[in-house]
Order: sequence, then C-alpha cells, then structure tokens
Amino acid sequence: MKQMLSIALPKGRLGESVYKIFENIGLACPEILENSRKLIFENEENAVRYFWAKPSDVAIYVEHGVADIGIVGLDILLEQKPDVFELLDLELGKCRIAVAGKKDALKGADRKLRVATKYPAIASSYYAEKSREIEIIKLNGSIELAPIIGLSDVIVDIVETGKTLKENKLFVLEEICDISARLIANRSSFRFKTEAIENLCENLRTRNSGVEKEKIQ
Ligand code: PRP
Repeated sequence: MKQMLSIALPKGRLGESVYKIFENIGLACPEILENSRKLIFENEENAVRYFWAKPSDVAIYVEHGVADIGIVGLDILLEQKPDVFELLDLELGKCRIAVAGKKDALKGADRKLRVATKYPAIASSYYAEKSREIEIIKLNGSIELAPIIGLSDVIVDIVETGKTLKENKLFVLEEICDISARLIANRSSFRFKTEAIENLCENLRTRNSGVEKEKIQ
C-alpha cells in the first residue's frame, strides 16, 4: 500500500503552480482547484492530502510533522530557520531580497539606520555582517509605506517585478540574496516515508531537467 503524504501548500499563485506540477507527476487531487474556502483535500487513490496554509506558516506545519512536506520560499527558511530538511530548489517563485528606499537614503553612514521589514532576522544578520548599527521596525505588510511617510530610512523586503518600488518612487539600494521556492520535509517523515518522499523528489528533478531541455532546444 502507498504511504499517504501530507503536503502543505502556500495559499496563492505559487501554491497553485506547485499543485499543477504535483498533479502532473501523479499526485492529483482535482477537488483542490474548485473555488471553495475548504482548506484540506484528500485523494486516497493517489495517497495524498493537501493543506492550504498561509505561506509564512508552511514551515511551522512541516516542522511540527502535521505535514510531511511543504513548499516554502527561501526567505521564510532564512528568517524562521525551521528544523526541517530542505530537499529541492523548485526554481519557481523567483525573486530577491533587497534593501530599498529613497535614492539618498543611505547617506550619513554614521547614524543609526531605521530599517522597516517583515524579515527582522535577515535584516539583522545582513547589517551585523556590515557592522552597521540599525533599529529594526517590524511590519507585517505594505512595507514600502515606511520610507515614504518617514517611519524608516530603508526597507528590507522582497522585490519580484520591481513594480511596487517603481510606483512608490523607491529604488533598490543593495541586493541581499536571491530567493526561490524550496521543497522541505519533516525530519521524521523523511525517515518513515523515505520511499514516497524520494520518489516525489526524483520525479520533480526529472521534470525540472526536462523543462530545462525544452528551453534549450
Ligand atoms: C511583496 C513584497 C513587495 C511586493 C514586491 O508584497 O513585500 O511589497 O510583493 O513585488 P513586486 O516587486 O513584483 O512589486 P506582498 O504582495 O506579498 O504583500 P504585502 O505588502 O502584504 O507583504
């Protein structure tokens, strides 16, 4: 009998793209695409159970073992440092973490820099490495507001298309790192459901290299 895999998907566009990939490699659960507010979906035949989780909570479900695997942005892994296995770079949801602000926001390098962010750990370690004294202002969204209305000098945030910065007359001032979606697994699930999880990884790897080939030809 196949081992049932519980998968935490990040609610939203990334989660839907990932589900479609999983569907293509034999883990379909069609009900999930019906427009409903249901959060858990199961397909016994394919031995799979999906959850829709808030993207920043995916690693929590996986770390606690209520999901065997999950899909999470590298930003969340760097910020939360969950105790999970990182298995694969899905090369989806690509973006970067950057310092952004008004053009001259970094002038006056000796004063304490006010940094607004939803990534306090990433921002702190970035500035600790540069030995720059900062004050973190933790926000939960619409981070770009902070430097515009004078709450902070800069922000440390995700930049994907750059549209939000552009429309708010802000600029990338420093790049911190590239981000993409990662497949993670609970440590004991990986031990007890090794075959199911390794098969899944292998299918995803084969699929990724197939996609690469298609692009090259
Ligand atoms: C993220 C991020 C930026 C925006 C960047 O916000 O915090 O605001 O996307 O994307 P862009 O470069 O393509 O414009 P999100 O949409 O997650 O909403 P939030 O402000 O509530 O965090």
